[in-house]
This record gives sequence, structure tokens and C-alpha cells, in this order.
Amino acid sequence: MTTLLLHLADFNEANWARRFAAALPGHRVLTRADSYDPAEIDYVFIWKPTPDAFAGLDKLKAILSLGAGVDALLRNPSLPAGVPIVRFVDSDLTQRMSDYILANVTMHQRLFTRFRRDQQARRWVQLYPPAAWGSTVGIMGLGVLGLDAIRHLKVFGYPLRGWSRSAKAIEGVETFAGAEQLDAFLAGTDILVNLLPLTAETQGILNYDNFRKLRRGHLDGGPVVINAGRGGHQKDADIARALTDGTLGAASLDVFEVEPLPQDSPLWSLDNCFITPHIAAASSETTGVAYFSKAIKDFEAGLPLPNIVDRMRGY
Ligand code: NDP
Ligand code: OXD
Repeated sequence: MTTLLLHLADFNEANWARRFAAALPGHRVLTRADSYDPAEIDYVFIWKPTPDAFAGLDKLKAILSLGAGVDALLRNPSLPAGVPIVRFVDSDLTQRMSDYILANVTMHQRLFTRFRRDQQARRWVQLYPPAAWGSTVGIMGLGVLGLDAIRHLKVFGYPLRGWSRSAKAIEGVETFAGAEQLDAFLAGTDILVNLLPLTAETQGILNYDNFRKLRRGHLDGGPVVINAGRGGHQKDADIARALTDGTLGAASLDVFEVEPLPQDSPLWSLDNCFITPHIAAASSETTGVAYFSKAIKDFEAGLPLPNIVDRMRGY
């Protein structure tokens, strides 16, 4: 009998375990609260692993990541070499992320910060926001999530540009690739959207120097940054500085260097900073259990695992 162990932070391990047990008859499904011999575990379904999460799991066949991003897994000191890591790729998660991106892009293009300030001051000033085609949205990361965000933003009429590691041709999108084209990408971007994975190359990419390279003069108040990737992409202090001195007009942040965002962070009180607590696109129990149960059953039947992480690339 094969055994699946759940190791989840921030999610209800027992609920997920009940669902997996129903979807995987004939398999043993365990949570960390159960007693078991680590050497009997075939699969671990995991999110935010503790440092010793993989200790003793010597017979693992695959590591199943509840999240789409695997940076915390890859940094884990007990992560065994050679075991395939399957990440979550899911249309429900993808749609939620596109919802978040669309909501925040349209909000900033319509100068929400400006009109909220006017409302608070009881000020009636008929400043007309640019039409969608007057604000260029630049997407960093042209993977599953970046491409879906582009598909949605296109319908709204935004001029689009995208930046990735390898060169891409995407209809209706001006594309840039690699570190050498980052500055050119930023120079034409009014609303910068981050959907990169966190790797050694992308760590700290949302910094003050890069904010200064964004296009100015097209969006009242200044360019905007939307970060739904990882907190490690941004320097919180640089964002606070840029939002205060006008280098950025506004920011929408779903992720932070330290989560939960510390009480004393200056970001909390900036009226041009829109904070959400890492909820842009949570993994759903229904689709998550369906996806990973199928992956296990298919693998047991001799089929390949889906969406295996390239450990060398880091995503
Ligand atoms: P993918 O792996 O599908 O896509 C990653 C993209 O980033 C690819 O286009 C890749 O380029 C590009 N990229 C990677 N490294 C670099 C680099 N050094 N320079 C330029 N481009 C680079 O990832 P997803 O779209 O599925 O997810 C992206 C991230 O979103 C996740 O890693 C996770 O951190 C975050 N996320 C956040 C959530 C939230 O709730 N806030 C929810 C889900 C995910 P190439 O195409 O050339 O390989
Ligand atoms: C993910 C996340 O990576 O929710 O899926 O952050």
C-alpha cells in the first residue's frame, strides 16, 4: 500500500487529508499528527516545510507542492536530492491570480489613489484617467500565470509588454528577455506586474533603482508596481521610500519580505499602498486534491509526473 503524508502550514491538514483519503481509496493518507514510520512514506504533500520536514523520508517517490511557487521547498535544508518535485498548476488558481491582477491594474489605471485622496479631502476635481490603451502594463514572468494575466488584460485594451528568461513571441505583446533587456522593458512600462518565481536571479528585483527606470509622465502620480510573486522579490524599504518620494505613484502588494507583514512596517500606513495578506491565488482543496490524486494514480500506473520543477533553474 502506498502512503501519502501531508505537511501543511497555513492550510487545514486534517481537511485536506479527509479529501485525499476519499479520492485515493487503497492508499494510506497521514497527517503529521498520526504516528508512522518516516521510511514508509511514498509521497509528501507539502507547503511551507519545517527545516527537518524530509528527515527520515528515505523512500520518497515524489514531493507534491501545494503551491505553484517552490522557492521555500528548494531552500529547505533537509530536501532530498533526486526526488522529483511536482508543483501545482491549476486553472482555478490561475483564474484567481488573473482576477487579482486585473482588479489591481484597472484600479491604478483609473487613478484610484488620486480619487480616494480627493474624496477624503471632499475635493471635486474632474481629472480624466487615461484610457486603458494609454497605460502600458509590463508583466515580469511569462509562465502559466503571466500568460493568463496577459490573456485577460488584452481584452481590456492595455498595451502589453512582457519579460522572461528565454525569448518569446506572443501575439500583441512586446517581449523582452534576459537581464540585458530588463532596462528596455522597464523604460516603457507604466504598471509593472511581478509574476516571477523567486530564484537567485530574481531576488530583490523590485528595488529603488529599477523603480527609477519605469516610464514616467503617462500615469498621473507616477508608475505603479503590483507584486503577486514573492516577498523576496521586493525590498519593502525601497517600496516605502519610492511611494513616499513620488518615484512610484502607488503599489499593490500581496507578498512581503517578512510574512505576516510586521506591525511596524511603514507600508501599512501609506495611502498609496494596497496590501493583501498573500491571498492573491490560494490553492483550492477541490482542485488540489483532484490534481495530486490523479498525479499519484497516473504515476503508480507508470505514467510521468506532471509539472516537475527544474531544480537547476529554480522553478
Ligand atoms: P512559471 O514557472 O510558469 O513561470 C515563470 C516565468 O518566470 C517564466 O516565464 C520564466 O521565464 C520567468 N523567469 C524565471 N526566472 C527569470 C529570470 N531570471 N528572468 C526573467 N524571467 C524569469 O511560474 P507561474 O507563472 O506558475 O508562477 C509564478 C510565481 O507566482 C510562482 O513562482 C509563485 O512565486 C507566485 N505565486 C504567487 C501566488 C500568490 O498567491 N501570491 C500564487 C501562486 C503563485 P522562461 O519562460 O524563460 O522560463
Ligand atoms: C503559491 C502561493 O505559490 O500561493 O501557490 O504563493
